[in-house]
Amino acid sequence: MNNEKQTRAVAPGVEIPYLGFGTYLIPDGEAAVAVREAIGIGYRHIDTAEVYENEAGVGAGIRQALQGGALARGDLFVTTKLWPGNAAWGQAPKTTASTITSLDESLARLGLDYVDLYLIHAPFDREQRLAQWRGLVTLREQKKARSIGVSNFNVTHLEELKAAGLPLPQANQVELHPWSQKPQLVSYLDQHGIVPIAYSSLVPLSTWRSAPGHDSAKTDAMKSESRREDSPFKLLARKYGVSEAQVLLRWAIQKGYPVLPKSINPERMRQNADLFSFRIEASDMAELAKLDRGDGVAWPVGDPTRAA
Ligand SMILES: NC(=O)c1ccc[n+]([C@@H]2O[C@H](COP(=O)([O-])OP(=O)(O)OC[C@H]3O[C@@H](n4cnc5c(N)ncnc54)[C@H](OP(=O)(O)O)[C@@H]3O)[C@@H](O)[C@H]2O)c1
Repeated sequence: MNNEKQTRAVAPGVEIPYLGFGTYLIPDGEAAVAVREAIGIGYRHIDTAEVYENEAGVGAGIRQALQGGALARGDLFVTTKLWPGNAAWGQAPKTTASTITSLDESLARLGLDYVDLYLIHAPFDREQRLAQWRGLVTLREQKKARSIGVSNFNVTHLEELKAAGLPLPQANQVELHPWSQKPQLVSYLDQHGIVPIAYSSLVPLSTWRSAPGHDSAKTDAMKSESRREDSPFKLLARKYGVSEAQVLLRWAIQKGYPVLPKSINPERMRQNADLFSFRIEASDMAELAKLDRGDGVAWPVGDPTRAA
């Protein structure tokens, strides 16, 4: 399995590592240690966002990891996201100009000259989406973002960009795991050469966001289900001699989706990074395909009423 390709192309000459490190809910003051630790373990892809308010800490961790000289900036793939602003939440929606300024501000906080991927975090109103997307296209031309994409966009949102004659995104970051497989969206992304990036892969685990203040009430019933000894993820974990988290992450990689597991626990970080030492058999992938329950819990696509 060691010769399996561990990246996929997201743009000409730009490879996105399947294994990424998520940083949502890691406070700014703890992000440097977590990111440095993750890079030390072998993560080469780091995911943050303006709205996570931890870009400074994430950037500090990246710079610390590069200090030894063993790694260069070009060995890492860094993603951040534009917070588009939502008038319905009393926020000023970003324009094309303020989108461009936003990446400059993110880069300053990160202490980087460019990001590998810049995403619009969520779709809000139509005019705003198009204006912001024009800003991302400019930022790619300016080489401040090597590739550009969106997050939480559904087919309608993507079709709007196409109808406006704009270039299509190169990636769409969405909640994808066996309980939320979004087959129509994924098939559209495949047809249009847009890389699906999976977030919140670990939703089916009883430990998902279980720290105080991190919980999502919607998942309580699901969590009790995950504790059952006959949960399909537990059965597969036993069969392959790995953890349930590894089964969920490996499922995504076999579907072709880069993953972004977040953990502040070094042992879990290591476990989540060990995804190329086993393969889920086709018959088990077929069983997992039957577990789809529709929309996700972190942030339903097309219903951006909650931030994540
Ligand atoms: N674009 C978007 O709208 C969006 C939305 C959500 C997430 N994301 C991105 O995707 C990343 C991942 O999503 P996420 O943070 O929602 O959740 P996740 O990575 O699916 O799960 C993280 C949760 O699972 C726990 N965990 C991690 N590894 C584990 C393991 N091996 N065994 C048991 N429990 C484990 C973590 O706790 P500990 O930290 O205590 O280990 C944490 O509570 C985010 O950090 C963010 O970068 C993007």
